[in-house]
Amino acid sequence: MIVVTTTDKLHETLSLFRREGRSIGFVPTMGALHAGHVSLVKQCVADNDVSVVSIFVNPTQFNDKNDLIHYPRTLDADLNLLEPVGVTVVFAPGVEEVYPQEDIRKFDFGMLDKVMEGKHRPGHFNGVAQVVSRLFDLVKPIRAYFGEKDFQQVAIIRAMVRQLNLPVEIVAMPIVREADGLALSSRNARLTSQQRKLAVKISEALTKSRNFAGRSSVQDTIKQVVDEINSNDGLQVEYFEIVDGNSLQSISEWQNTEYAVGCITVFCGEIRLIDNITYFAKQ
Ligand code: PAJ
Repeated sequence: MIVVTTTDKLHETLSLFRREGRSIGFVPTMGALHAGHVSLVKQCVADNDVSVVSIFVNPTQFNDKNDLIHYPRTLDADLNLLEPVGVTVVFAPGVEEVYPQEDIRKFDFGMLDKVMEGKHRPGHFNGVAQVVSRLFDLVKPIRAYFGEKDFQQVAIIRAMVRQLNLPVEIVAMPIVREADGLALSSRNARLTSQQRKLAVKISEALTKSRNFAGRSSVQDTIKQVVDEINSNDGLQVEYFEIVDGNSLQSISEWQNTEYAVGCITVFCGEIRLIDNITYFAKQ
């Protein structure tokens, strides 16, 4: 496994592989890696001749500077986790390598980023699009892997790829969960043991709502999930929306969509946790 920290070295390393005609797959991450990230990396290694993983805590996507300061940074442990999986190159650059000058690009994602995470974290998806397009430009992968844990992010990345006409296939991977159901997240490391116990109520409420959803209206399903989670001291739902999985716009009736997804964000103390559940996806 080759670890590079500069764009020059990355370019040098990858152009060699490219000249040999090897396919390059890519997994962008912000580090503090866990089994969720590893599932993406394993798929990437299986699908491609060369696998590149980036570890970069991107400042432009943090609308909350406190979150940026506290974001876990565990490079040595991350490298230990990636080595046995068969990663070819890890790109772990500093901010000045990714942004030699300030990125002032403004993306227009229409209604896709006006809702949910985009609404509650202004500028977040613009920052995600900036960094991912920049990383795509540096790595030039033929495939890139993203987790459905960040459901809206996948939609934004697909829209960005369409807009910029990039020759990269976006592969979406299912959410990896702890044994009790909590979606793995780098932010889970910041939960106290008491908060960790509470956090499981989020996936529990979502799973239960699957049965409830079959015999209740969209509004009642939303109310049931929100009330159930908020009944726990220490948990506070920021939003829970049931949306069309492609347009990400809220639905008011189940029959208004063929692909219904419930997306939630909950504050567990000051830690912001996200999760989602697919109610149905008619093919
Ligand atoms: P990060 O939060 O590090 O996540 C990197 C990738 O891992 C994302 O595609 C995310 O959806 C996926 N992932 C995280 N937890 C997961 C889980 N429990 N199951 C499956 N996949 C999971 O997302 C980002 O970084 C950044 O926004 C990034 C795309 C790297 C741009 O900076």
